Amino acid sequence: MSTVLEARGLKRDYHIAGGLFSPTKTVHAVKGVSFSVDRGQTLAIVGESGCGKSTLARMLTLIDAPTAGSLHIDGQPMDVAKGVTSDMRRKVQIVFQNPYGSLNPRQKVGDVLTEPLLLNTDLSASQRREKAMAMLVKVGLGPEHFNRYPHMFSGGQRQRIAIARALMLNPSLLVLDEPVSALDLSVQAQILNLLADLQDELGLTYVFISHDLSVVRYIADKVMVMYYGEVVEYGTRDEVFAAPSHDYTKKLFASTPRADIESIRARMAARGAPAA
Ligand SMILES: Nc1ncnc2c1ncn2[C@@H]1O[C@H](COP(=O)(O)OP(=O)(O)OP(=O)(O)O)[C@@H](O)[C@H]1O
Ligand SMILES: [Mg+2]
Repeated sequence: MSTVLEARGLKRDYHIAGGLFSPTKTVHAVKGVSFSVDRGQTLAIVGESGCGKSTLARMLTLIDAPTAGSLHIDGQPMDVAKGVTSDMRRKVQIVFQNPYGSLNPRQKVGDVLTEPLLLNTDLSASQRREKAMAMLVKVGLGPEHFNRYPHMFSGGQRQRIAIARALMLNPSLLVLDEPVSALDLSVQAQILNLLADLQDELGLTYVFISHDLSVVRYIADKVMVMYYGEVVEYGTRDEVFAAPSHDYTKKLFASTPRADIESIRARMAARGAPAA
């Protein structure tokens, strides 16, 4: 199995300017984390608010340069400090939590989907249109949605559009930062199933950030638990769920409500997978 993502000692500090009499403060948001993800697999990243998940996501998606450490995607070094080429940019895409904020309200869905092709490929207008139509169908929407604006869709449909946009350039890696947290439970299950189906069909590789353990259990191959910027747990889903080793993870798992376990079973059953 080939490795898509290799992160070694990734670190990110933020310097916050002090006031007149207070010195500049440094926040060590991510303190040197290492992990890898193989093609077609999902790594879930879990941890409480402020532990550094989104900071890590911004480094993985080349939005932010790490303070130290290295990142390789498909074996190629991604040195953001030296500049991000469009070839690097195509390799990794992100889907955010909030489908309302991440889509331009003045852009029709067709333009949302064709824009990455316009900026990064030599395809003709009709080829771009054809690819966008096909992607709409792949994410469970239809050609009739091509000329509509984002406000004409439900939250779940908007997240489908965000996923479609992220896939337009065939990225090697998709980073999903709490992609279903803002959605109703039933819609969450539909989007999770869509992501699982797309992964099977296209061999996609995911880094999936979530604070919901039932979701993590459903989608993850590997699980990484972060705590104050450090990795405190890293292993296969079954290893981490069967025998959490760090005190924080034990507490996190103990506090998972019973209803979540029921909802995992329901989702697993809906997909025909054996309930864990
Ligand atoms: N641009 C920034 N400038 C200064 N500090 C920041 C910045 N972004 C994040 N931080 C700090 O870094 C730490 C990690 O933040 P981050 O957003 O990565 O957490 P998170 O795990 O994604 O949290 P949540 O679950 O709430 O989304 C926090 O202490 C946060 O206040
Ligand atoms: Mg976050």
